[in-house]
Amino acid sequence: MPTIEEMEALAKRRGFFWIASELYGGAAGFYDYGPMGTLLKRKLENTWRKYFLGLGPNFFEIESTTVMPEKVFKASGHIDSFVDPIAKCKKCGTAHRADHIMEEFLKESFEGATPEKLTELIKKHGIKCPKCKGQLEEAAVFNMMFKLGIGPSGDVTGYLRPETAQGAYVNFQQCFEILRKKLPLGLAIVGRSYRNEISPRQLTSRMREFTQAELQIFFDPDAIKDHPDWGSVKNYKLIAMPVGEKAKEMTCEQLAKTMPKYYVYHMAIVQKFFLDVLQIPKEKFRFRQLSDEEKAFYNKYHWDIELDCAALGGFKEMGGVHYRTDHDLGGHQKLSGKSQEVFFDGKRFVPHVLELSFGVDRILLSLLDAHYGKEGDRVFLRLPKAVAPFTAAIFPLVNKDGLPEKAVEIHAMLKHSVDCFYDDSGSIGKRYYRQDEVGTFACITVDHQTLEDGTVTVRDRDTTKQERVKISELAAKLKG
Ligand code: GAP
Repeated sequence: MPTIEEMEALAKRRGFFWIASELYGGAAGFYDYGPMGTLLKRKLENTWRKYFLGLGPNFFEIESTTVMPEKVFKASGHIDSFVDPIAKCKKCGTAHRADHIMEEFLKESFEGATPEKLTELIKKHGIKCPKCKGQLEEAAVFNMMFKLGIGPSGDVTGYLRPETAQGAYVNFQQCFEILRKKLPLGLAIVGRSYRNEISPRQLTSRMREFTQAELQIFFDPDAIKDHPDWGSVKNYKLIAMPVGEKAKEMTCEQLAKTMPKYYVYHMAIVQKFFLDVLQIPKEKFRFRQLSDEEKAFYNKYHWDIELDCAALGGFKEMGGVHYRTDHDLGGHQKLSGKSQEVFFDGKRFVPHVLELSFGVDRILLSLLDAHYGKEGDRVFLRLPKAVAPFTAAIFPLVNKDGLPEKAVEIHAMLKHSVDCFYDDSGSIGKRYYRQDEVGTFACITVDHQTLEDGTVTVRDRDTTKQERVKISELAAKLKG
């Protein structure tokens, strides 16, 4: 399994991602995606769209602004509650996440701990600045949103959104009207979010600008007790880690003894996405229930989606299943003075929200990690075809005898149906290795026999076995 250094080197070498604006030294918490990373990210986002927008006939994607007025975040509670504990060094001035310093020292999670509690622990254990060993100030809270002065005089306050979710809430009423006034209504947003993280770290897993894919499901609160398709999941085994327990397999039916069925149903849907679609090995997946102290301020029920990522040192949060109740629509109704109620099924009420929230960058990193393999000096990524940057790479065996012309012709023919790459530089062995490192499914080599019988060799990424295939059958074989 890759170390973080191996992952960083692979990401840079093969064009997945690297530090943004590196030309000028970069800034902590910002990464750019290169050509392979961008292809992988788009495919991951599109795979997510196809799967989650397929959950119901009334599920759609919208696109909202990343800059939003202050009132949005007053109503949502982010101005008051979207804070992290900070401990500054008296000597060098570096600001640290107080809970992370304690976590590193005592090897347990301090998420949700109050600044008072953290100050007490820092004093008790004599924790010093990890950078210069100076003394730390008392822990305090720090709001993570980026504040903006909008317009030439900067007197209109706005914020860069810290989550995509608010875009769906402020647009809910219009969408409900347009989409024939039906519930459940799903509104998805895939896009950038911004957080002024105190200590960005671990490559793309904690950045100050990142991508989320979030689905807000608006529903009748009375419907929480059941789901029309419950029968299809009730015996499905979830990998769940309830508060204070170890991760274990539980059927949906078992978990539904303590959690509402509508919620549990969506946990199964999420787990299937990771296990079946992204092909994450079962032992690398779990749901972790958050305690009352750890839960986000807007959630009634909150289970995180966690993946075991070797480069990040173990299980890390990738997303969450959040029962936000009417916290957000209720807040917007109160502050805007505009009703967020609907009339549906003979009743008037403010819909509740179940949010399926995913961090695209963390999932992408975990995909590279989970599908990473090494055999001798061969590094390969066993990415599922749906997300692998290229399905095929096409090589002429040698750069003469008409082979490059034939290979270019095949590349031109295939590129309309599958993502493919053309490479004629270096030895054929090196070209295979380069493609293995980006997870390309098949390498197609044009050799002298191709000119005689119209066949090429197709090398399988996972087995490295080669077979001869007719050019006319290539597209069907690669798509299948
Ligand atoms: N709308 C709910 C929400 O934003 P969250 O748990 O704060 O919930 C959801 O964020 C996901 O976004 C996280 O599970 C994580 O995958 C991703 N995420 C959050 N902060 C991030 C950061 N600084 N860098 C990269 N991804 C981040």
